Amino acid sequence: MAANLIIEVQLFGQEIGKVGYDVDKRTSYFQYHPEFLESNTYTKIFPYVIKRIKPVQVFTQYEGETFRGLPPMIADSLPDLFGNTIFKEWFESSHQGSKKITPLEQLTYVANRGMGALEYKPVQPIPKSTTIDIQEIVSVLEQVLDLKKQRSEKDLSELALLNIFKIGTSAGGVRPKILISEHKENGNIIPGDLEYSGDYRHYLVKLNLDEGIGYNREKVEYVYYQLTQELGIQMMPSKLIQGIHFATERYDRQQGEKKHVLTASGLTGWDFKSVAESSYENVFRLALDLRVPYKDIQELYKRMIFNLVFGNVDDHLKNHSFIYNKEKNAWNLAPAYDITYPLNINLNFTKVTRALSINGKRDNINLKDVLEVAEEFAIKNPKGIVKQVQSVIPQWREYAIEINIPERVIVAIQEEFVLLK
Ligand SMILES: Nc1ncnc2c1ncn2[C@@H]1O[C@H](COP(=O)(O)OP(=O)(O)O)[C@@H](O)[C@H]1O
Ligand SMILES: [Mg+2]
Repeated sequence: MAANLIIEVQLFGQEIGKVGYDVDKRTSYFQYHPEFLESNTYTKIFPYVIKRIKPVQVFTQYEGETFRGLPPMIADSLPDLFGNTIFKEWFESSHQGSKKITPLEQLTYVANRGMGALEYKPVQPIPKSTTIDIQEIVSVLEQVLDLKKQRSEKDLSELALLNIFKIGTSAGGVRPKILISEHKENGNIIPGDLEYSGDYRHYLVKLNLDEGIGYNREKVEYVYYQLTQELGIQMMPSKLIQGIHFATERYDRQQGEKKHVLTASGLTGWDFKSVAESSYENVFRLALDLRVPYKDIQELYKRMIFNLVFGNVDDHLKNHSFIYNKEKNAWNLAPAYDITYPLNINLNFTKVTRALSINGKRDNINLKDVLEVAEEFAIKNPKGIVKQVQSVIPQWREYAIEINIPERVIVAIQEEFVLLK
């Protein structure tokens, strides 16, 4: 494939522009389709970084692992660590000895199976599959990710990898995950990469692989989900599959439609690994600038308190998203996701600092700090929110026992909870 390939970006059934990437100059380009600009519809799909102008726009500042040289809104369609590992494994097994793939080429594999509503053309023809066996996927993944240390014995067929690549490499994040769709009437489960009809419930499933850590992180995430539900924090309906895998309904597939979504990082070009840009204040400012309804600001505050109290330090800029309402040409806060205790309890972390700072701080955050943030963003009743969030602490143990999370895990995680005083 040509190194200087140009690809078409589509949204809601129309071309909105083209994106290019010059490997030698390590520069990307975006140009709006003139008809899309002139139509003056969906004017807020990319509120930052890309300007609503006809000429080609050049991007040189997004080099590095996070955006891989692309405009951040486009880079948001690429996977992170997990998806890239699987993609690479499959690509190498099916294109023996071929050169490295560019991020832009990778987008042609994302094609119409990406998260959100952005689609890319040309589409790489990949055979469709109709069945899915979660058990088999788990066992292939344990080998691909070297969890079983059987690499030398492994003989993974291209087909097995293909099946996982298709449903496992669209979503971001580090944890192993796949996309599936479950028929609302007969419960039939099919691959979730292409299907988006209203006859199905579409899930992102975080798979429980045997990591040899002695407990199940997906169960922990499920208990955290239950806690958010006690508190009225908005999350998509979620459940455990086969009692061990965490499945959450997709907010970017609703009522048989694809929804345009971007992470806080993809919207703004703030690198989620950059300390300077990673603060709750920035997420609040972004939400205000996007003119989300006031209730979303209030909700964001509750999530901040929840993440602080329950030790979710991994609440970075890609773990907050916004969802575009195409009828109103307006943005809302997306439902919460990746709400869990993120660290391995077997490891002794001596210094853990949270991803998003609060009132300029990453540790020893106290009541005064969160009240100052409330003041700055006109949050109503912050003390009441803190009290409410802390009131569900006892439920952690209760719900964890119900699904047989080991006592040592319950205790270790509870020790990380932060009581705001
Ligand atoms: N319910 C959901 N609907 C749609 N997209 C989701 C949902 N949950 C997560 N995502 C997207 O998938 C990505 C990976 O999910 P996440 O739970 O953050 O996994 P990880 O623990 O690997 O980071 C998120 O960054 C988000 O963009
Ligand atoms: Mg995540």
